[in-house]
Amino acid sequence: ALESMKDMLEKGKREGYAVGQFNINNLEYTQAILQAAEEEKSPVILGVSEGAARYMGGFNTVVHMVKGLMKDYGTTVPVAIHLDHGSSFDKCKEAIDAGFTSVMIDASHHEFEENVEITSKVVEYAHANGVSVEAELGTVGGQEDDIVADGVIYADPKECEELVKRTNIDFLAPALGSVHGPYKGEPNLGFAEMEEISKLADLPLVLHGGTGIPTKDIKRAISLGTAKINVNTENQIAGTQAVRDFLNADANQYDPRKYLTPMRDAIKQTVQGKMREFGSSGKA
Ligand code: G3H
Ligand code: ZN
Repeated sequence: ALESMKDMLEKGKREGYAVGQFNINNLEYTQAILQAAEEEKSPVILGVSEGAARYMGGFNTVVHMVKGLMKDYGTTVPVAIHLDHGSSFDKCKEAIDAGFTSVMIDASHHEFEENVEITSKVVEYAHANGVSVEAELGTVGGQEDDIVADGVIYADPKECEELVKRTNIDFLAPALGSVHGPYKGEPNLGFAEMEEISKLADLPLVLHGGTGIPTKDIKRAISLGTAKINVNTENQIAGTQAVRDFLNADANQYDPRKYLTPMRDAIKQTVQGKMREFGSSGKA
């Protein structure tokens, strides 16, 4: 059923696993991820960036597509539709009004006081509508859609504690060296800070930039209270490679239902692998 991330992430934190957020771009992505979740008996978060929502038609299109698929598929596992990197109160409100069950307000590039102010406003509106809220501190490196970062700025544990207390957010994404897109070499995550933030903030943590993080780091992050891991680029790479291989193998193909099927299968497989790695399989 469609629900907020509140129960799924609190359960994950309690029981020592993380729920994956997988970003969607179109119908086939959504099909692949919902099918993977159902087969794995795993809760799942459909991440929707503002750019992806724009591409698909808008927030309403996204919600109706997801609801339609869940009905046609007879989906039984918990599913959240989550605004990824919401840029303003207005965008968050728009997503909530369309039926999103969770939002991220990414005011991390603002001054701290301004971040507190914007995030509080989002929390008030979201909670009144049964919607959960994720906020960010620090800067995730790399680029995702409209979100470009020059460098990685680590989240400050004291600020994390203060943000959580003053805004009443449900989850926190402290940037601790993770990057959107592929890593140059091995990621160097700030686990000492993660441990401190987890203790001070006392809520489920979120890890952005899940693509390319080795399993040992994933396990360590989960053991320190990370209950949500975002994966986007890895599905894009796997899906695109499958389409490329298919079309390269036969220049006479032109039917999108034929050449998008290998993409859908590749994404489904990638997502199932992540669900097993994150420990969410069998938890629905
Ligand atoms: O918000 C989405 C994620 O942080 C995705 O990161 O593309 O590196 O997997 P990724
Ligand atoms: Zn992100």
